[in-house]
Amino acid sequence: MLDDDTRDWWRHAAIYQVYPRSFADGDGDGVGDLAGIRARLGYLHDLGIDAIWFSPWFPSPMADAGYDVADYRDIDPVFGTLAEAEQLIAEARRLGIRTIIDIVPNHCSDRHAWFQQALAEGPGSPARELFWFRPGRGEHGELPPNDWQSIFGGRAWTRVRDGEWYLHLFAAEQPDLNWDHPRVRAEFEDILRFWFDRGVDGIRIDSAAMCAKDPYLADFDPAAPPEPHPYSDRDEVHDIYRAWRQIADSYEPKRALIGEVWLGDTERFARYLRSDEMHTAFNFDFLGCPWDAKALRGCVDATLASHAPVGAPSTWVLANHDVTRTVTRYGRADTGFEHALRQARHQVHTDIPTGTRRARAAALLTLALPGAVYLYQGEELGLPEVEDLPDHARQDPFFFRTQKTDPGRDGCRVPLPWSKTGANHGFSPAGGAPAWLPQPTEWAELTADDQAGDPDSMLTLYRTAFAVRGAEPGLGDGPMSWLDIDAADVLAFARPGGFACVVNLSGGPVELPAYEEILLASAPLDGGRLPVDTAVWLRIPKE
Ligand code: NOJ
Repeated sequence: MLDDDTRDWWRHAAIYQVYPRSFADGDGDGVGDLAGIRARLGYLHDLGIDAIWFSPWFPSPMADAGYDVADYRDIDPVFGTLAEAEQLIAEARRLGIRTIIDIVPNHCSDRHAWFQQALAEGPGSPARELFWFRPGRGEHGELPPNDWQSIFGGRAWTRVRDGEWYLHLFAAEQPDLNWDHPRVRAEFEDILRFWFDRGVDGIRIDSAAMCAKDPYLADFDPAAPPEPHPYSDRDEVHDIYRAWRQIADSYEPKRALIGEVWLGDTERFARYLRSDEMHTAFNFDFLGCPWDAKALRGCVDATLASHAPVGAPSTWVLANHDVTRTVTRYGRADTGFEHALRQARHQVHTDIPTGTRRARAAALLTLALPGAVYLYQGEELGLPEVEDLPDHARQDPFFFRTQKTDPGRDGCRVPLPWSKTGANHGFSPAGGAPAWLPQPTEWAELTADDQAGDPDSMLTLYRTAFAVRGAEPGLGDGPMSWLDIDAADVLAFARPGGFACVVNLSGGPVELPAYEEILLASAPLDGGRLPVDTAVWLRIPKE
């Protein structure tokens, strides 16, 4: 049972991201659903997580896998019903697991009632004011209103039959909402209440820095954007989240706001975490950081330094549904992640055993750092990116809008393998339809069932690490201090209560610092030495 007195759970929580299409299929149609998730809640409980973040589950034409929302107050029939979602929230709560849902405010689906009405009522209608409709440029309006490009590739404008154009920073099926309009604000505030009233503990805010736009929609050079940026991180955007915070704080217990804020500037990032705005935001610097001691230490220091002035806890994230899976990324020569480099790094030589070894070490590093941690489904199984999906199976608009040059994000979204039996490696019940993205046959060796009984598996490592993290009073939120260690390219830090984490990113084994007990290691130790690409949790003498 959840103890509602556990205030500020978001400061230290271990949060598991469920991507509903790919977690577990209860009804056998080859697509994951709420019935599948409900049947696997025991697995998540045994894993030892505190909360689930569900990627969007709302009615959607799935032009962007649910990030194109047609109705923010219901559940897509492919996933189930609103009543089932309420049951799922309650069942998870009984197991001590909180629920975070994904709210997408920057845009909705082109099938959303508001957009349909805007299309029907035509230029000049109040319905169009909820979006960014504009006449085109050129003699006959045949040119888009400005030169903005979609984040998924191609232009950010689509022309409708009556000749006007509308803005979409993502796919054409995702029209951007006009956050200058009070109706948009009121609507989302009501949507928040709708879900908070149903027991949702927090929301993840999609593309949170993009909602405010330059009202003049001026052209700009993306290589040298003006200040303020025409649509990213404009000062006005903060008012939205201040209003949301008041709503979140009006509940008992208070609800949490978690931002998806991709910004290079850590100080601008921290502005979203001021005490009257969001509680936490995803740490994408850490997610993109290469497997390199100096880079990782620099990232940890910069993260802690930027969060301290606003009093917000850091988050630590290795992967999500938009990026290359960790064992693949760490198995390459270039171990960082950047969206712009996905195409260049796709299908380059990948050494999965090395990547897996590093991912295991990274798991212990991540879970020992101060703050909250996120785990994307399948990372606990050490799943690799599926890089050889056939073109006809791919669904990500990134792939299509870049003329199939960028492989997109389908490779990290392949349904999970649960068991050797059952359809789709146990993802679907016996007799189920093929999975919506095909799983590699080798995933028969990576199933959750097999890994649960294997003391050396990634799953066992994560289970043990979450259990130790939960039991160690010095882990989660709180201070950390780097330890002086006589070896280059080794990360060593202490947490309160005589806990230390040491990670060897150098080229050879290193001596361990003085310790009383080994709590957990990501790989067998070499006598008293820590092998390459290995992390260890130690009980050290208390200061
Ligand atoms: C961020 C989400 O994580 C991503 O999957 C989605 O495509 C974009 N926002 C647009 O909603």
